[in-house]
Amino acid sequence: MKVGFGCDHAAVELKNALLEHLKERGYECVDFGSYAPEDKVDYPVIGQKVGEALVAGEIDKGVLVCGTGIGISISANKVPGVRAAVCSEPYSAKLTAMHNDANIIAMGARVVGVELAKMIVDSFFDAEFEGGRHQRRVDLIKDIEAKYSK
Ligand code: RB5
Repeated sequence: MKVGFGCDHAAVELKNALLEHLKERGYECVDFGSYAPEDKVDYPVIGQKVGEALVAGEIDKGVLVCGTGIGISISANKVPGVRAAVCSEPYSAKLTAMHNDANIIAMGARVVGVELAKMIVDSFFDAEFEGGRHQRRVDLIKDIEAKYSK
């Protein structure tokens, strides 16, 4: 599986740590930046970049981090086909994969520590979408998206 990583200047360290962590676990990792905390970058630019790579099929899943995880996930979610979920603990990360078929996990570097963030991504990547009644609900989300994508 190919995983795309993105962050703004507030979360470069956490992004790098998570990328190394998933690389060690055998995932193919693609870094969409930002690359240095001193280079200020607006999180919507990176959120859009990773979101577009995902819907284009260049990556299978994404990991996004900014100060809170909120701005970058809102931005990615504007790309039709993206379901980015901000999580601060492993339970929600597991459930968003199982129930929402989330394709991007987002976190806040100013909210979670590195070790907790690793547990969060592990829960996300170890879980599988359950389908069934959850597929119907994801399809309803897609209907909303289609309605406003015209
Ligand atoms: C940048 O200072 C900060 O606003 C950003 O990283 C993020 O927290 C936005 O949601």
